[in-house]
Amino acid sequence: MTFLAADLHNFHDVFRPLPATDGRFISFEGIEGSGKTTQIRRLEASLKAQGLEVLCLREPGGTPFGEQLRQAILTQGEPLDPMAEAGLFVASRAQLLKEKILPFLHGQPRHVVLLDRYLDSTLAYQGHARGRPVAPLWAMHQFAPLNTLPHTTFFLDIDVETSLARQAARGNQKDYFEARQRDFHQRLAEGYRALAKAHSERIVTVDARRAEDLVFADLSAALRARGVL
Ligand code: TYD
Repeated sequence: MTFLAADLHNFHDVFRPLPATDGRFISFEGIEGSGKTTQIRRLEASLKAQGLEVLCLREPGGTPFGEQLRQAILTQGEPLDPMAEAGLFVASRAQLLKEKILPFLHGQPRHVVLLDRYLDSTLAYQGHARGRPVAPLWAMHQFAPLNTLPHTTFFLDIDVETSLARQAARGNQKDYFEARQRDFHQRLAEGYRALAKAHSERIVTVDARRAEDLVFADLSAALRARGVL
């Protein structure tokens, strides 16, 4: 299985972060219960306190069209073909980039987008967890606006036991993905780790089994060290 989209030999020409004259684009990834939402809220407050303009978004969703797709997919009963799933997520993403993310960041270096899930979710969920190669999924992103890479992606890494325990503690009804078997979640976690290894220049792995404060300290330190903010 390839994680570097080896079929796209011109990867670094096709996929780029936004120029320095634009704002910063940060995405968050992880399996269910990894604490993305909590960390995004904390980072939003901290960045706003530093005088930055922050826009928090989630995928799928964030636009009227994306929210409709979100409803359609998360309430779907029978498993869809992974390419059907991918098509829906990619459609929601393209619209989110065009309507919200790119206009907000364009020419505004003090604007920051914090995005709960982005293309690595498609690679991990529709690719690795379903036992499918990721190259066709990268290929779906090779044209604008989908070829935009975040400046930094945080992968909040937890093990499947912690994920299941946190989900049980929440006690919510399981959605389309949460209802999958344990081996799906295991492959998902492994897929994310492999992606983080293959794209270590972009993806920062944080051990998210730890206390919220420690995770947040790591995120903040990584952003400073990487000169993202
Ligand atoms: P959500 O309730 O937002 O889950 P979470 O809080 O864990 O982010 O539902 C989004 C679900 O959609 C989540 O299970 C991951 C899945 N997903 C994909 O399978 N592929 C994708 O490209 C994206 C963006 C999400």
